Amino acid sequence: MNRKPIIAANWKMNKTATEAVQFIEKFENLVGGSSLVDIAIAPAFIALSASKELLVNSSTTALAAQNCHFEESGAFTGEISIGMLKDIGVDYVIIGHSERRAIFGENDALINAKAKSLHAAGVNPIFCIGETLEERDGGEIESVLRRQLEDGLKDLDSVNMIQTVIAYEPVWAIGTGRTATPEQAQEAHAFTRSVIREIFGDSVADQIRIQYGGSVKPDNTKELMGQEDVDGALVGGASLDPESFADICKNAAISD
Ligand code: PGA
Repeated sequence: MNRKPIIAANWKMNKTATEAVQFIEKFENLVGGSSLVDIAIAPAFIALSASKELLVNSSTTALAAQNCHFEESGAFTGEISIGMLKDIGVDYVIIGHSERRAIFGENDALINAKAKSLHAAGVNPIFCIGETLEERDGGEIESVLRRQLEDGLKDLDSVNMIQTVIAYEPVWAIGTGRTATPEQAQEAHAFTRSVIREIFGDSVADQIRIQYGGSVKPDNTKELMGQEDVDGALVGGASLDPESFADICKNAAISD
């Protein structure tokens, strides 16, 4: 099955709107409209509008947000609704990132509510899953991934699922410089796809893209992307520099 790779930059709490604009101007020149990969950049909320102005005519690079609230509007001080993001022209929203789970206490039920609201609004989730080192060492990888998938994607419709991107990010590999080996990534991705197959059937399982995330760098991209079930990357640290992120996108295009 030929799935087009999708590489996404997760800037986390980095870059002002001015810095985001400087990055995008440079980056767009470096990637030069390659049609071999889909690219998305997720700046902080306050940089989304300025980023969109530059990306509106981009043939490769889409805009992503790092979070959303599941309600349409109301008394939720400090939160951002999906309608607000759609109004700017956001294409993807990252949900279930391990930092949101661990630092902000987000659970599978909340992530499921966000996934449902995104599907209802026609915005694509980048749905993150992944085990901690303790869970891996305790032999719980499969049970953790299965729970995150079953509970987080509960009651979602298969038509919308094809547009969803799954990001497998082992928590012990995020920001640590310790990447999963290509074999470890492939094993977790194949398992993830098998659970998607059980829940949503063959068509969704064959088409859905599963990104790997956790210390992805230009020099490990090709090997990771060369694995059968790895269809892209969610990149934190190495996406903050335009040259390094462009190299990751180019290397992903070569490997598939
Ligand atoms: P990292 O972050 O590339 O810095 O490990 C990945 C992520 O958290 O999405």
